[in-house]
Amino acid sequence: MAGPEKLSAKLTLPGGKEASLPVVVGTEDEHAVDIRALRNETGYITLDTGYMNTGSTTSSITYLDGEQGILRYRGYSIEELAEHSDFVEVSYLLINGKLPTKAERASFSTALTRHSLIHEDMHQFFAGFPPTSHPMAILSAMVTSLSAYYPDSLDRNSSVDLHITRILSKVRTIAAFSYKKSIGQPLIYPKNSLKYCANFLHMMFAVPSEDYDVSPVLEKALNQLLILHADHEQNCSTSTVRMVGSSGANLYAAIAGGILALWGPLHGGANQAVIEMLEEIRASGGDSKKFVEDVKNKRDNRRLMGFGHRVYKNYDPRAKILKKMCDEVLAHLGIKDPLLDIAKSMEEIALKDDYFISKKLYPNVDFYSGIIYRAMGIPTNMFTVMFALGRLPGWIAHWKEMVEDKDTKIGRPRQIYTGEKLRKYVPIDNR
Ligand code: ACO
Repeated sequence: MAGPEKLSAKLTLPGGKEASLPVVVGTEDEHAVDIRALRNETGYITLDTGYMNTGSTTSSITYLDGEQGILRYRGYSIEELAEHSDFVEVSYLLINGKLPTKAERASFSTALTRHSLIHEDMHQFFAGFPPTSHPMAILSAMVTSLSAYYPDSLDRNSSVDLHITRILSKVRTIAAFSYKKSIGQPLIYPKNSLKYCANFLHMMFAVPSEDYDVSPVLEKALNQLLILHADHEQNCSTSTVRMVGSSGANLYAAIAGGILALWGPLHGGANQAVIEMLEEIRASGGDSKKFVEDVKNKRDNRRLMGFGHRVYKNYDPRAKILKKMCDEVLAHLGIKDPLLDIAKSMEEIALKDDYFISKKLYPNVDFYSGIIYRAMGIPTNMFTVMFALGRLPGWIAHWKEMVEDKDTKIGRPRQIYTGEKLRKYVPIDNR
C-alpha cells in the first residue's frame, strides 16, 4: 500500500545551487519546510530574528490558529474547558495528553494535596528579601531553591511524576507565601480539605484571627483564569523552558527560567502594565482618546498594553471569555471599577481605528485579566505571579514532551557575524 505523499520544497541559492527540503505537515494541515539539513548540504543557515517564522519543534500539546482566533489544548476548545473543567483537570490533560478518569483525577488531586508544604527552612528565605522585592523575583528564586531541597531532581533517572507534582503544588504555596510576607502577615498554611484554587485563595486571604470562607464565584473565576493561561504553545517563556531544559538542566531550573522570561512587560508582565496604563489615564482625567492618539503617534514609544499579539491577528479567544467574566465577577462582588469603564472605552476606540485595524491589533489575554484580579483583592505586582501559576502546567507539559522526545537536541541557534574581521592586537602603550 502506498504511504502518504512525501512533500518537498526546492530552494535555489545564489550561483544556482539547489536544495530539496522535506515538508512537514501537522494534523491541522500546518506546513513547514524542514531546514535541518540545509547547512550541511549548502553551507547556508536561515535568519529569523524573534523566530517569527521558525518552528522550534513539533508538539502535540496545544493548537493555536491566530488568524481565526482558535485555541485548543490536546484537541479540546478553550471555551469548553473554561466553561466545564477546572484547573487541576486541565493540568492533568496538558501534562498527560488525556482527560483523567475519576480514579486518575482523585489520585492526582491527592498527590497535589500531599505535596503542598514547602520545607520549613525555606521560610527563612522569604524573610531575607527586602519588602520592596517584586514577587516575581521571589518566586523565581524560590523555585530554583526547590532543586536544592530535592537534589534527586539532578538525577535524570529520578521520578519525573514526583517532581511534576511537587512543583505544581509548591509553586501555589510559594506564590501565596510571598504575598503574605510582602504585607507583613503571618503565613497561612495550606488546608488539605480545600481544592487547588480554593486552597490558594485561603492561603492568600485568610488570617489566623478570623474564619475565611472561599467564595464559590471567586473559586470558579480563578479556575477559569488559570485555565485560560495554562498553555499557549511556543511563546517566549515556554520556549525558554524548553531551551533551559534542552541542556539537561533539572525541571525546577527550567521552570525558573520560564518564570523569568514571563516577567517582561511584552509577555506576562503586560497584565501589570495594563493596570498601570489604565491608572495613568484615570489620573490624567480619563481621556482614553488622547492616550490612543499618543499610542498611534508612538509618543515616548507608547503601546496600548494588553493589545496585539505575535500570533493572534484576530480577537484573542481568551480575552473574549475574560471580558464576560469581568462583568460577572465585578457584579458578584458589587464593585464598580472605573478602570473597567476606561478599558472598555479604549477597546471600543481602538477596534474602530484604522491604526489598530490595519495592524490587526486586538485585546489579548492580559487586557481584562488584571481588572478581575484587582477585584479579587490580588495586588497589581502579583498579577504576573498569577500568570506563572496558570502557565505552570503548560511549561511542565512542554518540558516533559521535550525530555521524552528522542530527537531532542540542545537548543543552539546559529548567527550571522557582522563584527570586525581579524585584526592585530595592539599593546595599550601603542594605542
Ligand atoms: N500598541 C500599539 N502599537 C502596537 C502594539 C500595541 N499594543 N503592538 C504592536 N504594535 C505595532 C508596532 O508598533 C508595530 O508598528 P510598526 O509596523 O508601525 O512599527 C506593529 O504593530 C507590529 O508590532 P511588533 O512589535 O513588530 O509585533 P510583535 O509581533 O513583535 O509584538 C507584542 C507582539 C509584543 C505582543 C506587541 O503587540 C506588544 O508589544 N503588545 C503590548 C504588550 C502586550 O500586551 N503583551 C502581552 C502579549 S500576550 C502574552 O504574552 C501573554
